[in-house]
Amino acid sequence: MIEAIASRAPGFRPKVAVLLGSGLGGFVDQVAARAVIPYGELPGFPQPTVQSHAGRLVLGHVGATPVAVLQGRAHYYESGHADEMKAPIEAMAELGCEVLLQTNAAGSLRLDMPPGSLMVITDHINFTGVNPLFGRGRDRRFVDMVDAYDPVLAQRLLAAAKAGDIRCHDGVYIWFCGPSFETPAEIRAAVTLGADAVGMSTAPETILARHAGLKVAAVSVMTNYAAGLVPGAIGHDQTITVANASAGQLGRLLCGFLESYG
Ligand code: HPA
Repeated sequence: MIEAIASRAPGFRPKVAVLLGSGLGGFVDQVAARAVIPYGELPGFPQPTVQSHAGRLVLGHVGATPVAVLQGRAHYYESGHADEMKAPIEAMAELGCEVLLQTNAAGSLRLDMPPGSLMVITDHINFTGVNPLFGRGRDRRFVDMVDAYDPVLAQRLLAAAKAGDIRCHDGVYIWFCGPSFETPAEIRAAVTLGADAVGMSTAPETILARHAGLKVAAVSVMTNYAAGLVPGAIGHDQTITVANASAGQLGRLLCGFLESYG
């Protein structure tokens, strides 16, 4: 499969893999693209079923930094397989990427992070009982998760935000399986556990990336207050609308980070 990618952009060696979340796929417009490959042409790559997840690999540059952009992910809830993103993430490592930079849409557990806010993820909580490494051979299965979200890269993201005059928080992301949203009682429990944002992705990809030897950095866009934090219902339409509205700000942050990646 690496050959299938390499043949489209001979000699191209990306440094950073960027994984775009719900409603955030528009970032590819910032990439000076050299090749665009539908996931369907890459063995093992998933076919995302969530609209707004295009399912394309874009190879190119942001500033001088060579990047591989995964435009769209498959989620655990789509198939019941937590390792849906195994092939793309391992391909990124094989291509020579050093970092997996993830984005996602998330619910905010903090009143000081209203919809539209950005949050750099400093750690995650996975109490789902599910792990993408289930069934892996004994080789390297016990992956260390201390500093899973690289602290140096997190600081660089926050510095890029400051340099671009972009308000950006930092905090802990908790993974819930979905696809139903959380109950208010689950969100109260998540607050007690120390979470700042909630979502249905990212943690399994981080585990897979650490297993593949990639460093991880991640940014969430708050698309709503989590269940029960404020009155009212939660819906996927809001996720997409607010994510789209915040995509420009997130794009500026990612560009700032990538251009100065070195
Ligand atoms: N919960 C889970 N995932 C989400 C949310 C939420 O409130 N908002 C966007 N993705």
